[in-house]
Amino acid sequence: MRFADRVAIVSGAGSGIGLAVARRLASEGARIVMADRSPDKAQAQIEGLKEAGAPDVLVAACDVADEVQVQGACQAAMDRWGRLDVVVNNAGMMTFIPIADLTSADWNRVLGVDLMGAVHFTREAFRRMKPGGAIVNIASVHAVMTSPLVAPYAAAKAALLSLTRSAAIEGKEKGIRVNAVLPGAVDTPMLWENPNLKSGAEKLHPSDVGKPEDIAAAVAFLAAEEAAFVTGAALNVDGGRLARL
Ligand SMILES: NC(=O)c1ccc[n+]([C@@H]2O[C@H](COP(=O)([O-])OP(=O)(O)OC[C@H]3O[C@@H](n4cnc5c(N)ncnc54)[C@H](O)[C@@H]3O)[C@@H](O)[C@H]2O)c1
Repeated sequence: MRFADRVAIVSGAGSGIGLAVARRLASEGARIVMADRSPDKAQAQIEGLKEAGAPDVLVAACDVADEVQVQGACQAAMDRWGRLDVVVNNAGMMTFIPIADLTSADWNRVLGVDLMGAVHFTREAFRRMKPGGAIVNIASVHAVMTSPLVAPYAAAKAALLSLTRSAAIEGKEKGIRVNAVLPGAVDTPMLWENPNLKSGAEKLHPSDVGKPEDIAAAVAFLAAEEAAFVTGAALNVDGGRLARL
């Protein structure tokens, strides 16, 4: 029970990777805040998290792009349990638009969620976490290599790795570790909504598709005390896709 007595906030916990992460941390004793912009989706998963072992679960209606809502989610954890130990910045979105057609509003929307969401949570966590706290950022293989039509997503995920390094440096004196996971293709609604896959422009071998639980296992390791000497790291969890020529 690596997370007994711990409090964890998982953004985008209503579906896919976030849900698997919430379930994994719950199964190891964590009290969970599911911070999702679709609270109904998260609400429907509360019983499942309790069955998995969560002593308590809270749903926070939270669009991570909105700093006031992020403050609210962090404060809700403090008000209910008096502590915050783990933040998993998982909420994310993608658009599929050629660079020539992207407006600044398009850019801001993706950067607002995929980068600024983690910026807001990092600030709020740094203000509240005690030494021993851990932040895990869910980036993507797109932080390193990418495909057409997803420039804002790739840029946001690359910047998220940079934020991970900066926050790891500044977190060190606070005793807070900050790491990133780079998932490859993972079997979630987001993957199968990808028009590059639907059109056949991008092809995936079945062995290149992981399960949300594969990502959750890596997140749990990085968030746990046994990773006490791991900070500023970027861990590929991609079935080896980034290693291939
Ligand atoms: N699925 C993949 O293949 C894959 C690969 C690499 C990285 N990722 C990353 O993993 C993370 C989770 O992706 P997923 O595949 O589980 O997606 P998903 O679409 O299955 O779930 C995303 C969840 O986040 C919530 N969400 C979306 N925008 C939000 C916002 N602004 N504020 C709060 N909640 C919000 C949604 O309501 C949903 O519950 C994302 O950051 C994504 O970029 C996914």
